[in-house]
Amino acid sequence: MEKERKLIVAGNWKMNKTVAEGLDLVSGLKRELANIKEIDIVVCPPFTALADVSRAILDSNIRLGAQNMSEQNFGAFTGEIAAGMLKEFSVRYVILGHSERRQFYRETDALVAKKAIAAHAASLKPIVCVGELLEEREGNKTEEVVARQLKGSLAGLTKSQVEETIIAYEPVWAIGTGRNATPQQAQDVHAFIRKQLTSLYDENVARRVRIQYGGSVKASNARELLKQADVDGALVGGASLEIRGFSDIIKNSI
Ligand code: PGA
Repeated sequence: MEKERKLIVAGNWKMNKTVAEGLDLVSGLKRELANIKEIDIVVCPPFTALADVSRAILDSNIRLGAQNMSEQNFGAFTGEIAAGMLKEFSVRYVILGHSERRQFYRETDALVAKKAIAAHAASLKPIVCVGELLEEREGNKTEEVVARQLKGSLAGLTKSQVEETIIAYEPVWAIGTGRNATPQQAQDVHAFIRKQLTSLYDENVARRVRIQYGGSVKASNARELLKQADVDGALVGGASLEIRGFSDIIKNSI
């Protein structure tokens, strides 16, 4: 598929995979995806598997991401992990403000913005997640919610940092439900996000930012979703846990 921006497909393993299981998964992905140059491929294991997975994908076309990080750089923050610590394992990307973090750990747009600033300061590329709840979609509030999350979660970033930020549009009703947004529904919100980026920053920034779709992406629907003009990749949960599931999403999207 010829696209304006390079596609980026990331696997969010969430709280799944022991070290041994994660190593099995990436060894299969390395085998299946060795020749892929057209798409940026990222895996986001739990913190406990970062070190080993990092070693396993050295010299491959697979890059490493984390699922969260602290907005703080160091200090008395029990249980937290700083950007600098992720850098020790050659982590390049970090998912921020996933709906599960917003929902279960009360993360706000303001906190996500602080984390995004800390990520960029450490040269990590944030994948900033936004997306509406089912009742918000049904109440015609999708654009209002996504605009608010976008503006709030990127607050304080420079234009060049925003260009290096990946936005993931993940309608909450589509996450882990098997019910994906239709390609047209995804395209509509992605185009809206790009329009918002134009008004918050400028057209250049808006044209450069990659916007992933997330929510029940699988091998059978990836191609149609990623074919949309403003859909620049996918953030994949469940289907990223198996070699075939994840590698077929990528192969089908070329
Ligand atoms: P899913 O999760 O692919 O299992 O719907 C997507 C995500 O939460 O990033």
